[in-house]
Amino acid sequence: MEKIILTGDRPTGKLHLGHYVGSLRNRVKLQNSGEYDDIYLMIADSQALTDNFDNPKKVRDNVLEVALFYLACGIDPNKTNIFIQSQVPALTELTFYYMNLVTVARLHRNPTVKSEVKLRGFEESIPSGFLNYPVSQAADITAFEATTVPVGDDQLPMIEQTREIVHSFNRIYGDTLVEPKELLPESKSAKRLPGIDGKAKMSKSLGNCIYLDDSEEEINKKVMQMYTDPDHIKVSDPGKVEGNVVFTYLDVFCEDRHFNEYLPEYKNLDELKAHYTKGGLGDVVIKRFLAKIICEVIKPIREKREELLQNLDYVYNVLKNGTEKANQKANATLDKVRNHMGIDYFDNSKFLDEMKEKFNN
Ligand code: TRP
Repeated sequence: MEKIILTGDRPTGKLHLGHYVGSLRNRVKLQNSGEYDDIYLMIADSQALTDNFDNPKKVRDNVLEVALFYLACGIDPNKTNIFIQSQVPALTELTFYYMNLVTVARLHRNPTVKSEVKLRGFEESIPSGFLNYPVSQAADITAFEATTVPVGDDQLPMIEQTREIVHSFNRIYGDTLVEPKELLPESKSAKRLPGIDGKAKMSKSLGNCIYLDDSEEEINKKVMQMYTDPDHIKVSDPGKVEGNVVFTYLDVFCEDRHFNEYLPEYKNLDELKAHYTKGGLGDVVIKRFLAKIICEVIKPIREKREELLQNLDYVYNVLKNGTEKANQKANATLDKVRNHMGIDYFDNSKFLDEMKEKFNN
């Protein structure tokens, strides 16, 4: 069986360091591993509209933006098909057929939907489109016959829901759809980067993000604002490493060579942590160190994005070509689905022949 990846993001804002750690850098790794026959990367504008239907400009403005960040991070359009969800009509049609296989109660029980409903204050007036987005996500995944879906653990209920739909569909209409499997981040530190304020998640609305196109100045400023240990007041005070955002980030980004380059007084992170814990190491020192490392991570991304900005025609064409290829694959799956559901009336003479027989004609 072919190994196919499908994954994506809602285009609702610029991409930040949380995206990079949680998914982008892993996607580039998967892309370059050579282990996959096909890779689809979807800009999920239709899904973004399920909770931004009243602000379509926000979605429209971020489609190309997201594509820019993909390319700037090293997604190679020769290896990965980047496409726009709404421009693949087969996805909408599949969603409509899958809706028959899922109860409203089941959608209400979906943990991701539940927490998002709470977050958005939908309460009793949940738009049915929003409630239904797990079904549409099942369409995304199955349309490309994805075997592997790289996601964060917040998306697990979506994959579970997809598998249920695949099982129901195949049981009722015969073996048609491919069952997907999630691919979770390997290490704990790659799962989720906290915001600079120490909140669990980087999020635009919380204003606690470092963006992948931030200037060195902005990075320095943001790192200086980072939440550390509120009890570490004087340099001589012993400090806490757990829950200290600077150290959480250092755990993710710091390599031994960084000490050589930026902080030769220490050999490695363990030494730095030990000194901080004991007392006598100020926040400014560790923050300056971290800022240098983050600048190093973001610099090539920012510069590549800058370069791509000079050539938007190219980025636009990447999306156009990727979407064309996505349509080919999704349409092939849709043909199979229609055929197995018996709604392929005009595909061949079979339907007319059957009816002639029925009416003894
Ligand atoms: N729900 C995902 C998110 O919140 C985006 C998405 C839409 C997706 N369709 C998908 C992810 C299919 C993986 C597979 O970011």
